[in-house]
Amino acid sequence: MISQESIQQIQSRIDIVEIVGSFIKLKKRGANYLGLCPFHNEKTPSFTVSPSKEIYKCFGCGKSGNSISFLMEAEKYSYVEALRWLAAKYNVEIEESETSPEFKQQQQVADSLYIINNFAQKYFTDALLNSEEGQDIALSYLKERGFREEIINKFQLGYNSEARDGFTKAALASQYSLEYLQKTGLVNVREGHAYDNYRGRIIFPIHNQSGKVLGFGARIIKKNDKAPKYINTPENEIYVKSKILYGSYFARQAIDKADECLLVEGYTDVVSLHQAGVENVVASGGTSLTPDQLRLIKKYTNNLTIIYDGDGAGIKAALRGLDLALEESLNVKLVLIPDGEDPDSYVNKVGTAQFINFVNENKKDFILFQLGIALKDAGNDSTKKSVVVNQIAETISKINKTEDFTKQQDYIKQCSEILKIEESGLHALVNKFIREKVNKEETRVNRDQRFAEESSSVEQYNEADTDVKALFNKDEIHEQAMIRSLLEFGLKNWNEKLKVAEYIFKEIEENQLEELIDNKELIRVMQTYKAWFDAGIEPTAKNFLYHEDQKMSSLVVSIMDFNYEISPKWKEHFEGFIATREDLFAEEVFSTLNYLKLRKIKRLMDENQRDLEKSTVAEDQMILVQTHQHLKQMEIELTKQLGTVIFR
Ligand code: UTP
Ligand code: MN
Repeated sequence: MISQESIQQIQSRIDIVEIVGSFIKLKKRGANYLGLCPFHNEKTPSFTVSPSKEIYKCFGCGKSGNSISFLMEAEKYSYVEALRWLAAKYNVEIEESETSPEFKQQQQVADSLYIINNFAQKYFTDALLNSEEGQDIALSYLKERGFREEIINKFQLGYNSEARDGFTKAALASQYSLEYLQKTGLVNVREGHAYDNYRGRIIFPIHNQSGKVLGFGARIIKKNDKAPKYINTPENEIYVKSKILYGSYFARQAIDKADECLLVEGYTDVVSLHQAGVENVVASGGTSLTPDQLRLIKKYTNNLTIIYDGDGAGIKAALRGLDLALEESLNVKLVLIPDGEDPDSYVNKVGTAQFINFVNENKKDFILFQLGIALKDAGNDSTKKSVVVNQIAETISKINKTEDFTKQQDYIKQCSEILKIEESGLHALVNKFIREKVNKEETRVNRDQRFAEESSSVEQYNEADTDVKALFNKDEIHEQAMIRSLLEFGLKNWNEKLKVAEYIFKEIEENQLEELIDNKELIRVMQTYKAWFDAGIEPTAKNFLYHEDQKMSSLVVSIMDFNYEISPKWKEHFEGFIATREDLFAEEVFSTLNYLKLRKIKRLMDENQRDLEKSTVAEDQMILVQTHQHLKQMEIELTKQLGTVIFR
């Protein structure tokens, strides 16, 4: 586990606007920031970030949380991974306290692999630039291909010698474990001998989003029919191929700026285009795009342009899985490079300006292109043709209809023309696929809903009695309001002697109000608050936000009030005459406590009533009636204070 001190340090430096802002564009709006929600598709921004409260909330899809839960959601990080990411960003040294042995183990493996890769990258770069063999064989080869030293340095290219085990020996001499060296794919062991896996090859390091080396692609230099052209790092704790796009570390900002991501096949394509000044480019390694890779792209832009060589097999692979891009509302365009060239050779041949020009003038629509290829493959075979019609209808059905309705209509029109079929027929087919999809989703939603209802605590009340439910919800609101008062005003002075928190705790204890709070999670927040308060730790909302217990932290986020921040402009407009919750905090504390007390009285009255109904002894009945009157009097007074009329 990461030590409490480290967590505190990280927390004190977190800037939620900066963190969220590195994933989506935010605009200042009053005291808050506004942007397009990264968690659902929307065209008008409803994703709100409050810098002072350090939380975000999407008023479209309802997702809310803090910097850490944002990273957990956006990057699919665990709590600890999110903390590590933040620690790296803000240069906080992480101290570890005890952790589960398995986690520690896995973390250690990952750390070790990064360290070895870092060592290897330096070794290979040194071999390329400073060894005689590297200069003669590899550097000259790269220069001949037009790669200049500057770009070689930027991408940290390297070389490994043809010798059997130069790297292996160096790594072992530096005390790296053979087991981990094998895991990185840098070293192989055969018949008891350890030797270099990449021999006589140019090395392309592959970087993660923060620039650390995850693995390598190693390209052979000399022609050899037996050996593969590239050897890549095997899957391990840090190299997960389906999540990697080569070059994304270097392309990130350019993609954001251009609002477009270019996708090419190979390492050399990325490097050459960068050298030519086209930096918004990543490579897939020639395989079809995975959902994780699409998500990575989608984080920066909605516009994906695939640039492949026209005659390569890669294009078909690239097209596979792209239906998913449509569902995500990515606009996919396709550019084919002519005459046996690939982006690398083409940009070297024609230069930057002409390359960009070519790309812009030859962007093809991905759906129409796919249809073209499929039709060509089908030839005159009518069965194959009907398969094509079905496929294209399914593809079109995946266009996010609510956002891109006209787009869908356009495609139906264009595709039916190309296919030479009735537009209405294709329309009906597309609708069939949409219906099927909706049906599937409905089944899922229904199941989820049923599950939620079954497990909810509302169940213990009479299902048919909706009023009870409404009351139940209302009570919850008051419970939340009390915790909110505690979090927001707890450290203010209630009177000369007591802080607000102390007053609330005293009231709760004296009136035994805790048992009235139905949401046990809220009680935990309260107890944690009290424990911190008693121990002299500032129990601010912030400390709750970053609590390791995500249940507690998200509860706190959900009860925090966004509207409570009134924009300075608004305030100015009314010349400071609007009272904020801040100004009226005493009233708020008072009334939330009163609600709880009132609830207590109602319960006591109910109990009393039941006793009265059961009782047969006249004396007892007397007392019970008096108790009732007493309670009733208290209720009236409390109600008066609340300024509300309560009907019973
Ligand atoms: P290419 O064969 O087009 O290579 O493979 P390239 O990147 O253009 O390299 P040069 O220009 O010939 O030097 C495209 C990509 O497919 C993957 C690599 O990621 C490569 O960059 N690939 C190719 C492999 O993983 N293994 C292979 O054996 C070949
Ligand atoms: Mn090439």
